[in-house]
Amino acid sequence: MRRTIARKIKDFVTFPLRAFTLFHEDRWGLSSLASERFDYVAAEVTGYCLDVGCGYGNRFVKEYLNGNGKGIDLFPYEGLTEENVVPDLAHFPFADESFDSVTFIANLNHAPEPQRDAELAEAWRVLKPGGNIILTMGLPITELIVHRVVWLYDRFFGTHVDMDSERGMEEGETYFLTEDEIRQRLARAGFRRVTRKPFVTQWGMNRLYVGWKE
Ligand SMILES: C[S@@+](CC[C@H](N)C(=O)[O-])C[C@H]1O[C@@H](n2cnc3c(N)ncnc32)[C@H](O)[C@@H]1O
Repeated sequence: MRRTIARKIKDFVTFPLRAFTLFHEDRWGLSSLASERFDYVAAEVTGYCLDVGCGYGNRFVKEYLNGNGKGIDLFPYEGLTEENVVPDLAHFPFADESFDSVTFIANLNHAPEPQRDAELAEAWRVLKPGGNIILTMGLPITELIVHRVVWLYDRFFGTHVDMDSERGMEEGETYFLTEDEIRQRLARAGFRRVTRKPFVTQWGMNRLYVGWKE
């Protein structure tokens, strides 16, 4: 599932086309936005991984980590089992220090604002010392456009690419987090050495953040 250099070059050049048409599934020899973010995040995972807010089919753990981890979500999306569905994401059903990495892919904004610190504190608790947290978040303008585009796409084509519409957004959820908010919340949860890396093939409009439990 890892992308070759040739594929990355094609993805870079075709980003505007992909941004409006390829949301979850690869097509025409090009990567979807989902495959791409999973690929960037997988490169940072250091071992057994918890993917919080995994979405349809627990794809990240199954397809990008060869099953080496657990995916959890509060909504029973297609392809999730009972084990994956955790209605209260402020409390993870796992023992302390049981994972090497914890990921929040395109979703910390979907934790209601008052619950975000609690979820990051849970990530800290379940990580082993020396483990890392990886989260992705687009630039605010990107997130606003993407949420609008997928909503319109589903309306016009009768598809279900917008996971948020299927679940229904709750009070306190937002369309994006600013970099300041991400850094402040990660620091409050105890994460150190936080770095930011752009998704080059998305022209830097999406990024990931990595922090460490020292
Ligand atoms: C845009 S989707 C991203 C799904 C998947 N991580 C991906 O990258 O394709 C946002 C996800 O956040 C999940 N979510 C909802 N509430 C959440 C919460 N409190 N904490 C973390 N994720 C949450 C949703 O159910 C949904 O699966």
